Amino acid sequence: MLPSIIALDGPASAGKSTIGMLLAGYLNYLFFDTGNMYRAVTLAVLQRQAKVTNELIVNQIADVVKIDVMPISFNDGRQSTIMLDGNDVTWDIRSSEVDANVSQVSAYSHVRQVLTAQMREIGKRGRVIMAGRDIGTVVLPDADLKLYLIASPEERARRRHAELEARGVKRSFEDILSSIRERDHFDSHREHAPLKPADDALIVDTTGLNIEQSATKLLSVVKSFKPVSV
Ligand code: DC
Repeated sequence: MLPSIIALDGPASAGKSTIGMLLAGYLNYLFFDTGNMYRAVTLAVLQRQAKVTNELIVNQIADVVKIDVMPISFNDGRQSTIMLDGNDVTWDIRSSEVDANVSQVSAYSHVRQVLTAQMREIGKRGRVIMAGRDIGTVVLPDADLKLYLIASPEERARRRHAELEARGVKRSFEDILSSIRERDHFDSHREHAPLKPADDALIVDTTGLNIEQSATKLLSVVKSFKPVSV
């Protein structure tokens, strides 16, 4: 029997989305990358030229924006199409400006509440792999299977560097590595839903493995899943 709801957590650039997408393809499950929702709210804040440090304004923006996650309609390397108030923002939410501000936005408890409720609705559908930071601990604590993906900061920076280069974006390896370290620190030290594995999560290290090898490793974990009897 396969787990119907799979939580896939872990630090920035651990490969949750690339590896999770492949895994979802093998299983014919929906892949839902929840970081995109925090990114979309961050973009909305930046577009309004509001300050991400102004919690009240950020909360208000989170309340009014409409975020949609849709299957891809054309192939330009995207994993899904992210809509913000009716506009396609799939690539805009991956800018370095959003990268630099999203941790701050995602630290606000009201923003987390609003987005967590939307995530739970999607989780209810089942046959889903939901990727994020707090899926196994907060969003779906009853998920059938909880995976926590890790890789060394250097390995993650290498992957991110290659990904950006493939899209023609120039950014130095050192710059990427230091922003990954910064985000790790911020995400794991924040007050609300800090980044950490759930007690019952299986920790999978993908350092030294490529995407296919990592996905195959996760697939074998999923296939050996045994439901806990109550
Ligand atoms: O996975 P990502 O880099 O796209 O995530 C962007 C930010 O969103 C990250 O800094 C932490 C936050 N995040 C979160 O707090 N909880 C989630 N479930 C997903 C992402």
